[in-house]
Amino acid sequence: MPARDINTYWRDGMRQVEGWLAVELLDHLKCIARAQDDVKFVGNVAEIGVYRGKLLIALAHLARGSERCVAIDVFDDQAKNLDGSGAGSLALVCENFKRFAPDDCELVTVQVDTLAMTIDQRVAVSMNHGPFRLFSVDGGHTVQHALNDLLMAQDMLADGGVVLLDDFYHRHWPGVTEAVGLFYSRYVPRIAPFLHAHNKLFFTSYTFHSHFLRYAVEIFKTRPQFKVVRMYGSDVVTAT
Ligand SMILES: C[S@@+](CC[C@H](N)C(=O)[O-])C[C@H]1O[C@@H](n2cnc3c(N)ncnc32)[C@H](O)[C@@H]1O
Repeated sequence: MPARDINTYWRDGMRQVEGWLAVELLDHLKCIARAQDDVKFVGNVAEIGVYRGKLLIALAHLARGSERCVAIDVFDDQAKNLDGSGAGSLALVCENFKRFAPDDCELVTVQVDTLAMTIDQRVAVSMNHGPFRLFSVDGGHTVQHALNDLLMAQDMLADGGVVLLDDFYHRHWPGVTEAVGLFYSRYVPRIAPFLHAHNKLFFTSYTFHSHFLRYAVEIFKTRPQFKVVRMYGSDVVTAT
């Protein structure tokens, strides 16, 4: 049974799990973990859109003792995967989780089409399993799915929690970038971006934005591609 160790998962396990996750993202995940650990932010970890569990298992390695890992996906109900963004499978996620996630990390699976969730279903996920310290959004990639899932992640975030949005600025999935534009133009968002790398945009609450930005600057300032840019009214570190 694997121990809690993201380095070992990255080196030995990750490449055996199908999915989409840039190997260079390890440092960005560790940056978030350090910024959360130093202030002892607590909460469970979750992902909408898990496919085979490649990133979910990484999040499980960042979860602490009693924190659980919540996998939200249509799984085998693929008729509801409207843009065909990778065919989920409950059995393969459970199998991979057993093989590569820390043995003391509890996996909770929620089979649902997030775009069709009722308010009762959302409240049930939040009350039973939230709030979340790390919440990855990588489900349907249409503008409606991405916007819906980003709003849901924002609502379930713990104090000092971070939302990871996949495929921002990815030319194959323009709906995600369009969704972020709508998020900032049509709503009064409570989260702001602070880090952008390898098509992932990381957000946290306005209250903790300067805290996470400071860690991102400190950790990535010597990288050749480092730059602090303005995005949607906030400073964002971009670093590969
Ligand atoms: C790009 S894959 C996720 C990749 C994964 N994060 C990884 O680490 O490899 C997209 C996932 O979103 C799921 N999905 C698509 N539409 C969905 C919806 N409406 N509600 C919930 N899950 C959805 C798919 O079944 C698929 O597993």
